[in-house]
Amino acid sequence: MTGESMQVSPEAARARVLVVDDDPAVLRSLGELLRLDGHEVVTAPSAPAALRALVDAQERGGFDLLITDLTMPDGDGLDLLGVARERWGDMLTVMLTGFGTIESAVEAMKRGAFEFLTKPVEDERLRAIVQRAAAQQSATRATRALRSDASVRTRFENVFGRTYQMQRVFDLAEAVADSRTTILMHGETGTGKSMIARAIHQRSPRRDKPFIEVACGAIPETLLESELFGHVKGAFTGAVSDKDGKFRAAEAGTIFLDEIGTASPALQVKLLRVLQEKRFEPVGTNRTLAADVRVILAANVDLEKEVAAGRFRKDLYYRINIVTIELPPLRSRLGDIPLLAEHFLAKYRRETGKHVLGFTRDAIEAMLRYAWPGNVRELENCVERAVVLMRGDFIGRQDLPPQIVAAASGELPALSVGGFSRQSLRKALEEPEKQILRAALEANNWNRQLTAEMLEINRTTLYKKMRQHGLMPRR
Ligand SMILES: Nc1ncnc2c1ncn2[C@@H]1O[C@H](COP(=O)(O)OP(=O)(O)OP(=O)(O)O)[C@@H](O)[C@H]1O
Ligand SMILES: [Mg+2]
Repeated sequence: MTGESMQVSPEAARARVLVVDDDPAVLRSLGELLRLDGHEVVTAPSAPAALRALVDAQERGGFDLLITDLTMPDGDGLDLLGVARERWGDMLTVMLTGFGTIESAVEAMKRGAFEFLTKPVEDERLRAIVQRAAAQQSATRATRALRSDASVRTRFENVFGRTYQMQRVFDLAEAVADSRTTILMHGETGTGKSMIARAIHQRSPRRDKPFIEVACGAIPETLLESELFGHVKGAFTGAVSDKDGKFRAAEAGTIFLDEIGTASPALQVKLLRVLQEKRFEPVGTNRTLAADVRVILAANVDLEKEVAAGRFRKDLYYRINIVTIELPPLRSRLGDIPLLAEHFLAKYRRETGKHVLGFTRDAIEAMLRYAWPGNVRELENCVERAVVLMRGDFIGRQDLPPQIVAAASGELPALSVGGFSRQSLRKALEEPEKQILRAALEANNWNRQLTAEMLEINRTTLYKKMRQHGLMPRR
């Protein structure tokens, strides 16, 4: 590739595309269409042929995009997609199918497909998708060229993750690390907010200065102000001497204020002042101190709602809501589970000196099916416990906590860990279909017309599926 620069014009982006279909006519027409747009196209008539082409192309930098048929006589497109995802994770994938059912779309998307197209393929749609994929790939390549290694990064400092959601978090964190921009983080407990805050600090020019974390929710409201800004002797009962606050302790470094939604109105005023003017007064004095501190905040309540309810200052909210980093719950980034499990396994193997070779497939599958209300923290505890309790070489399903085993034996769908567990596709797709329907209905306030449009199915189909899954609006 010549002229790789950060200036990526979407019109000019060209992609290396592999098209896989058992129908020669489809291969010919798609190939011609894409070549006319300037893309480099290789075609393969089957999944095995596609795998050979993928391996052959490795040396030359691989493909940007794989477009594959869903059903082919020798080897199915979903399996190809799964393998592609595992081995060539940077490549984007588009699934083609003869019948536009939500089931196959769901499955394809679950396996990380970039897009989904129904046959007969509309030329304009295909061209637009390939264009978008090409632009995305050349942008990613340009960013990667600036990094030392050319692969998907699986960690950012000590934070591990390989899903596209985490790549986005890493990219954002890296992009803002250098500046002193205030950052607001959202995420359930245990999703890694504290870790990301620390990682940002470590990547910043302030890395040799203090990083101070304050769990605002854990400190009584009356003490929080003095905890943050310090106080002078006699400022309140019990203030027997002058005391520096956390802002002082974090001078020239970074302060991470967790659970900021609990701050009292008076404290909010003070926070706004320190963010805007970089000054504050310790409790009980008019003496003003300057603060050179980078502020990162996290909230476990929806601050926008707090603003609407009059409990959180609007001006403060606008001041802190400049860059937001959303840490997705673990259940919505399944691809990170095996990576994190291995990471924690290595950690506790080192700590305990215990001989552990790895996880059984059963164990990983059970972990993939579980909902992880405590997110990564819970996963880490689960692996630590398993390492302590296990006998034998591998951590098996029986070494996992009972709630995880129970979830795994329920009616949840089988997830692919490098292959299928034995059950029919229809059965496997029931639960994700139900979840998607419910989410779409909720998103549209149970309006069937809007939901049907969003899911691109007709209203009758939606209604039938709602009945089949017992989905009715809550009263
Ligand atoms: N991506 C990750 N890679 C490695 N370890 C992680 C990751 N995310 C979380 N952890 C582990 O999980 C624990 C919890 O993470 P962290 O404290 O950052 O979560 P949090 O979002 O701040 O949670 P809380 O809201 O409860 O404070 C960490 O101590 C760390 O061991
Ligand atoms: Mg935390």
